[in-house]
Amino acid sequence: MSDFPDTPRHIAVIMDGNGRWAKERGLPRREGHRAGAESVREITDTCIDLGVEYLTLYAFSSENWNRPESEVKALMALLDRFLAEKAKELDRQKIRLLAIGQLDRLPAKTRNLLDRIMARTADHKTMTLVLALSYGGREEIVSAAKSLAVDAAAGVLSPDAITAEVFASRLQTAGIPDPDLLVRTSGEMRVSNFLLWQISYAEIVIVKKFWPDFRRNDLVEAVNEYQRRHRRFGAL
Ligand code: IPE
Ligand code: IPE
Ligand code: MG
Repeated sequence: MSDFPDTPRHIAVIMDGNGRWAKERGLPRREGHRAGAESVREITDTCIDLGVEYLTLYAFSSENWNRPESEVKALMALLDRFLAEKAKELDRQKIRLLAIGQLDRLPAKTRNLLDRIMARTADHKTMTLVLALSYGGREEIVSAAKSLAVDAAAGVLSPDAITAEVFASRLQTAGIPDPDLLVRTSGEMRVSNFLLWQISYAEIVIVKKFWPDFRRNDLVEAVNEYQRRHRRFGAL
């Protein structure tokens, strides 16, 4: 639990704008992704310092597979490097790593790295870092619906027993509280298929800066903005 009042328990981030950051500097897009990895490190550390319990980072969407092969390859290579470099530190910082998304679509090397780090950090309690990789909110919802349909067809689940809680328990985020704060960088006002079910009551903060420029103070600012909001959840 955080020592600060009203700290969001769960922050979810759409890390957007790496390509534009690079373009502004006349650099190839992959340089933007590389710089973005630095922001990931700094934002993770800041969340630990603030006492945030869950940080979910949208790193690669189902739709991002439609980018040119060279960019997909560069992103996967960067992800591998990030995981390999970060493995020991996650362990030292007592961070539990989880991954959500269609992980079977990832290269075998990436999956193996993820599996190893997830096993090694499974009992850590300082914070949970959730990486959304090859992730799509609609795909996640469809897959939950399918698993319920399979049980209903087999006669082990009555359709009447399907509640919002039961549904949520079939999502990949089962057991993780819904995000309190959703941050998107680079000024875009859309959710791009991220955590569609889970963000129903998240406070949304859109930041103009591109992801590689989003650092400690920017996150603290977003949390301050969150703390100024009045969450009503439909009541008064
Ligand atoms: C975010 O930056 C990283 C990923 C989506 C993988 P972008 O690559 O979307 O950068 P822009 O939005 O084109 O600037
Ligand atoms: C969302 O960013 C996905 C990630 C940040 C991983 P995109 O750049 O893919 O989203 P759109 O295309 O602008 O909606
Ligand atoms: Mg983008």
